[in-house]
Amino acid sequence: MQAQYEAFREEVLSTVSDVLESGRYTLAERVRSFEAEFAEFVDAQHCLSVGSGTDALIISLKLAGIEPGDEVITTPFTAIPTVSAIIAAGAKPVFVDIEESTYLMDINKALAAVNERTKAVMPVHIFGNVFDVEALRSELREDILMIEDAAQAHGSRIRGRSAGAIGDLGAFSFYPTKNLGGYGDGGAIVFEREEFRPRIERLRQYGMVDKDHIVHHGINSRMDEIQAAILLVKLKHLEAMNRRRRELADVYVSELEGYLLFQEIPKDVVHNFHVMVGRVIGDRNALLERMTRREIQCNIYYPLPLHLQEANRFLGYQVGDFPITEKLCGEVLALPMYPELPEPLLRRTIEVLRSEMGEMNARFG
Ligand SMILES: Cc1ncc(COP(=O)(O)O)c(C=O)c1O
Repeated sequence: MQAQYEAFREEVLSTVSDVLESGRYTLAERVRSFEAEFAEFVDAQHCLSVGSGTDALIISLKLAGIEPGDEVITTPFTAIPTVSAIIAAGAKPVFVDIEESTYLMDINKALAAVNERTKAVMPVHIFGNVFDVEALRSELREDILMIEDAAQAHGSRIRGRSAGAIGDLGAFSFYPTKNLGGYGDGGAIVFEREEFRPRIERLRQYGMVDKDHIVHHGINSRMDEIQAAILLVKLKHLEAMNRRRRELADVYVSELEGYLLFQEIPKDVVHNFHVMVGRVIGDRNALLERMTRREIQCNIYYPLPLHLQEANRFLGYQVGDFPITEKLCGEVLALPMYPELPEPLLRRTIEVLRSEMGEMNARFG
């Protein structure tokens, strides 16, 4: 985070100062500019900003007209907020397993889970890989909304189309660590259909039509001008930052062949490498400990499948229900990945990983 702040410090400080001088702090001209520029970036007709990625998902789901007992299909291999949003919107999360190679929702399993209670399907573009929304859409009942969880997929593409801008609605997060991150919380919803616009505008601000009239209750989920101003600065550099992530990913993949098994990227996908994940075919936890001891920060996304989280126990799932997710949660290891990653640290990470795995005799292939 600090390395990126250093890279943009002057521009950020100057724009934040302009906002403070302006006297307008939420949903004003910088927010509108950011919405217009982000819509253009993902090539969507509309973009409306909200307070977080979670809110972007909740508000998108509310457009599905959910009633008690309605279901939303997603995967248990994702960040907690994907599921929290479904619960907050009043629906029941229905999990389907992922593909072992891409870590993305298994289309056939999603189709098999559809029933008359299904209101939405919410695939997650996990780590920046892109789920084939068009392929699922073509098989899906028309009244079911396709909501893309694109919180990790800024700038990822499939067949030239931007992740998030393919389904009915796409939800983005601008949490600081995201590929496009502010210095606080933020989110956005992108979509094509004009009719969604006034509904989202009302939902994000108390249900207000104008300052004296509400037609239904909403929430407060406004983006503030400071975040919008910072995001406008960083959006100009997003393509270059993603390009650098792809270069780093190429080095990891070529240098660690036979050590880690990397996420497969479908041939028509451009990945943004939000997270660089490899699978350890051996004792992953021991390797993580060894890397930590050598002062290389690796992480696990995600150690516990969501169907086995305590908060989701009421859904009635059990160990063994989603074997691929469960297997991956025991194998994945995220390597240091950010555009400003210094070359010596990249080289050292590779060397340390190779030597520690050598000692553990964990190589394969
Ligand atoms: C896949 C996924 N969905 C949703 C979210 C929620 O975004 P936020 O933290 O901005 O609420 C995140 C980010 O944490 C995420 O990674």
